[in-house]
Amino acid sequence: MIYQKQADFPEKFLWGASTSAYQVEGANLSDGKGPSVQDVKKVPEGTSELDVCADHYHRYQEDVNLMAEMGLKAYRFSIAWSRVLPHGTGEVNPKGIKFYHDLIDACRARKIEPIVTMYHFDLPAELDQKGGWENRDCVDAFLEFARLIFQEYGSKVKYWLTINEQNMMTLVGAAIGTFSTADKENPLRGLYQQNHNMLLAQAKAMKLCHEMLPDAKIGPAPNIGLIYPKTCRPEDMIAAQNFNAVRNWLYLDMAVNGYYNSIVWAYLKDRDALPKIEPGDMEIMKAAKPDFIAFNYYNTATVEADDMMLEKLSAIGNQDGGANYQDNNNNNQKADQQSGQNILGAFKSAANPNTPKTEFGWEIDPIGFRSTLREVWSRYHLPILITENGLGAYDKLESDGKIHDLYRIDYLRKHINQMRLAITDGVEMIGYCPWSAIDLISTHEGMRKRYGFIFVNREEFDLKDLKRYRKDSSYWYQKVIESNGQDLRDLT
Ligand code: BG6
Repeated sequence: MIYQKQADFPEKFLWGASTSAYQVEGANLSDGKGPSVQDVKKVPEGTSELDVCADHYHRYQEDVNLMAEMGLKAYRFSIAWSRVLPHGTGEVNPKGIKFYHDLIDACRARKIEPIVTMYHFDLPAELDQKGGWENRDCVDAFLEFARLIFQEYGSKVKYWLTINEQNMMTLVGAAIGTFSTADKENPLRGLYQQNHNMLLAQAKAMKLCHEMLPDAKIGPAPNIGLIYPKTCRPEDMIAAQNFNAVRNWLYLDMAVNGYYNSIVWAYLKDRDALPKIEPGDMEIMKAAKPDFIAFNYYNTATVEADDMMLEKLSAIGNQDGGANYQDNNNNNQKADQQSGQNILGAFKSAANPNTPKTEFGWEIDPIGFRSTLREVWSRYHLPILITENGLGAYDKLESDGKIHDLYRIDYLRKHINQMRLAITDGVEMIGYCPWSAIDLISTHEGMRKRYGFIFVNREEFDLKDLKRYRKDSSYWYQKVIESNGQDLRDLT
């Protein structure tokens, strides 16, 4: 579709930026915070521990001031569950409770809308020791946590996100440091039991939010990116549909419509990996409705039919898929680290010759952003909030005291342009919060992989002075926000 005139961004569009607690706060075992799975995992070799990160815990006021200077309308951050409930349930940590009051108040004082992720990869370690999400008690624990934070912060927070990237935790959890399974006989079954329990916890939390906070809005926050077939070969199309189902639609079909995606269900059934569903679960999932869909978009991925696997399967009379995928696009390094864990069907990843790559090998596909937005809108018809999108790079503080991250401006401009086209296509959007507001620790590539609008002066192991510097992209984004998305020109 070629338009002569593009639609404008909505008037109250939430131009924001994102972080997550365990990657930005530091003070990971201070002031009464209990350890999370992130604090007890072994960090990847050559990457920093999580004790300081960007030191946001101590410097949040300065950081929020800088965000206000940039003109941000929203700040999306997460609450560290084990900072407010050090053991996951039970005893409450008053200092942790106070920290998030202070942070939310600081945002509100600067007219920045707080968008709160309830859980971003940091399950309390004590809950993990008790079986984590595989143990159904974790659902109740999440509800206890939800009740506490709704009670504490509900009068000040309008936008809530349930679980960040549940799909990535299920698909590449080993690399993010989130999931292991006790089901040694059939790990796939264990993983999808955890997944089911999380979906249930999410549904219950959405219901609770609507009961306790009638004016608030809540939604899921998976990582969504369309899957392309490598060619127009019909087998490749089936491969793409398979992976779309497993990577994307499973999570949104359940969050929005309350049913299991049938392709994924058939796949799990075939492998004796169906989750145990207690009476009443499906009714709860059906009744719980999100107010919007939040999702993180980094890129699309491309797959092709795995001919060898198809041959093997047809020899044993099974056409619908083996288990042989590694996502080598988004989270490529994450997936590479879990060699041998083949959980996703008779397809394999393929390179997309049409998309350039970041310095860290992630594909860049702004047009894929538009098609992903269109697809999500046409499947679910709920307003969309983008909670992550961004470019990880080796940013450098130059001798002029600046960070000339023109590559990030280029990346963001292209994505914002495509988002505007999606709005012109009729997609309803409420906000855009790129990753990340400020430099922080990557999930598995340390401090050297920077995403922030604000530079933090530290290296992987040398904390230097942690001084903040606004990158060029932050001045450019300020202009974008001031013009409500009209002015995407370069800085002059
Ligand atoms: C998303 C996560 O997957 O991508 C963030 O929600 C993460 O936590 C971001 O940091 C970028 O990924 P990475 O691996 O480069 O840190």
